[in-house]
Amino acid sequence: MTPISTPDLHALVEGVYADLAPFRGEGAVADYIPQLARVDPQSFGLAVATTGGDVITAGDALAPFSIQSVSKVFTLALALGKWGDGLWKRVGREPSGTAFNSIVQLEQEKGIPRNPFINAGAIVVTDSLLAGHQPREALGEILRFLHFLADDESIVVDQAVARSEQATGFRNQALANYMRAFGNLHHPVDLTLGVYFHQCAIAMSCAQLAKAGLFLANAGRLITGGSVVSRERARRINALMLTCGHYDASGDFAYRVGLPGKSGVGGGILAIVPGQAAIAVWSPGLNANGNSALGTRALELLAQRTGWSVFGG
Ligand code: DON
Repeated sequence: MTPISTPDLHALVEGVYADLAPFRGEGAVADYIPQLARVDPQSFGLAVATTGGDVITAGDALAPFSIQSVSKVFTLALALGKWGDGLWKRVGREPSGTAFNSIVQLEQEKGIPRNPFINAGAIVVTDSLLAGHQPREALGEILRFLHFLADDESIVVDQAVARSEQATGFRNQALANYMRAFGNLHHPVDLTLGVYFHQCAIAMSCAQLAKAGLFLANAGRLITGGSVVSRERARRINALMLTCGHYDASGDFAYRVGLPGKSGVGGGILAIVPGQAAIAVWSPGLNANGNSALGTRALELLAQRTGWSVFGG
């Protein structure tokens, strides 16, 4: 992929924002977590952090939003650091073809979730981070990791969102209890879910999220030089984002956008352009699969106009 000059990229990002801004409000804001329904559906932000060190923003790119399932990328990176390939005994690496909160495969597959990005898989990943720690410490580790990656200590949990999901997360409780019955959850359900709900409730802006994801575009390294994960691990996390990051819409996202991506029901999407950039978009209205409707369109348009794709230039 050919790098794009900073002024050109600025113009492209501005152009995508301007062309799609009239469609703000598209899709339906998630309301199964009541606090998420309070967000302004007109919000729309875009940020591109490049391996050259630029952060290009448009719209509401500096407003914090609930990262929800985008957090699963970061907990996966931490858990692989802790357990290495041992993690794959507890969670698979195949697309599920089912909704993010589906329970159907868990019975057939004996409590081993298909991949680390569906809720069941992410709950197992979080459970693995609790080993030897109190919930507060595990959450602290996740937050510190994000502070380090984004070089920004102001990132915090939105406690109202966490409480809201804690009070209504019955499906996740079902998934967690079901896995506990198979011995694939090693801690009490309320402890593991306590950490999981709080990691999902972390609030970040598009600019912070793009910066935090940049190591995945930069062979596992910070652009300032430090190593986060190995080059091979960065590739593999990208592969999982491509194949599983949008649940039962992962194929459609790969077809339309052509980049590894991870969505969240807060309306955020993190996409990775290997070697070039990390892109974060936010628009709270979701499509039928629970992924940002306008956010996906913005990535599709930006990928088209930049020529960015992992499937060829
Ligand atoms: O567990 C849940 O249902 C939410 N905390 C996260 C789900 C989510 O973000 C799905 N992504 N599109």
